[in-house]
Amino acid sequence: MTNRNVWRLAKRPVGDIADGDLVYGNEAVPALKDGQFSLRVTYLSLDPTNRIWMSDQEQYMPPVEVGAAMRGGVCGRVVESRKEGVNPGDLYAGLGEWADLIVTDGTGLSRLPEIPGVPLAASFGTLGLVGPTAYFGLLDIGQPKPGETLVVSAAAGGVGQIVGQIGRIKGCKVIGIAGGKAKCDYVVNELGFDACIDYKSQDVRAELDRLAPEGIDINFEQVGGDIMVAVLERMKLFGRIPLCGMISSYNATEASEPPGFWTMMLMRRLTVRGFIVTDFAPRFAESGAAMLGWMMEGRLKTRQDIRPGLENAATAVKDLYTGGNFGKLLVEVTPP
Ligand SMILES: NC(=O)c1ccc[n+]([C@@H]2O[C@H](COP(=O)([O-])OP(=O)(O)OC[C@H]3O[C@@H](n4cnc5c(N)ncnc54)[C@H](OP(=O)(O)O)[C@@H]3O)[C@@H](O)[C@H]2O)c1
Repeated sequence: MTNRNVWRLAKRPVGDIADGDLVYGNEAVPALKDGQFSLRVTYLSLDPTNRIWMSDQEQYMPPVEVGAAMRGGVCGRVVESRKEGVNPGDLYAGLGEWADLIVTDGTGLSRLPEIPGVPLAASFGTLGLVGPTAYFGLLDIGQPKPGETLVVSAAAGGVGQIVGQIGRIKGCKVIGIAGGKAKCDYVVNELGFDACIDYKSQDVRAELDRLAPEGIDINFEQVGGDIMVAVLERMKLFGRIPLCGMISSYNATEASEPPGFWTMMLMRRLTVRGFIVTDFAPRFAESGAAMLGWMMEGRLKTRQDIRPGLENAATAVKDLYTGGNFGKLLVEVTPP
């Protein structure tokens, strides 16, 4: 009998995630049934949506049940297989659990390509879920055209860093918004954004007016709250808003909806579309091929923030809601 370490949801958080909301334990793994395989997890992806899954608010997939293993993005290698076409050593990525060993029938998982010269953390941290989020959100919904002005919030994070670089590849003027000088310096100096506003020390409205006096064509929205309002006020006619996330409200204890700006949307003929990356799952091969190409050409770089040890996952995830992460947040569960 094999054992595994796993985090389970003990109770639904109220406000910020608290000690005891998730519990860490060691348990026996049942023998594989026909059609199943086991995966030794290499990296666990920690994502803002983890907090949504812990709650029972309206959401886009069933909440994690109290007592169940915590759901999470994972990549890892097959240990044992009773499923045709799946072999020990194969590399898979997708939806799994906060555990070092997962037994699965493969639902929600797909093969992750092994890219020569690209570390596994970078390929998972780019081609996993954040890359397709950036790619389809910006290209399908944002519809960028050369010379347009794109604003992206949470600019130095997993999704934001990719959005800005694709925006540059498509010929846009890219303005990031991020918390702190180090993050702003990174997206401008390392990733080639045109500018970045440090919302913690600068006046966002004044900086937007200075950097985009002509107004904003695309707002890739990730945080909500007052930053979103400041950007919305400056949208141009026929502007587009891929509504990707609203992290500033994920720990709120009461549901709140920001003002709708309906008259402004009408007068400026704005397009706003909420989306979830899995909506685009049938097209992930397209985003993977494009981003892989840009990575190989050195036009798409990403930064991962890797924390060692599955036992630290419940502490690390809290950093997403305070800006304590710098780049795509991953936990190294087993050395690659
Ligand atoms: N729609 C989808 O399918 C989809 C998929 C993936 C992610 N998302 C969304 O995209 C957003 C970014 O996700 P990610 O995985 O790339 O995470 P991330 O950007 O790597 O990490 C979250 C970042 O959000 C910023 N933040 C947190 N609280 C904030 C607040 N109150 N005000 C302003 N900024 C705040 C922090 O950056 P600073 O230090 O810069 O403040 C933090 O580092 C989230 O809203 C997430 O839910 C949506």
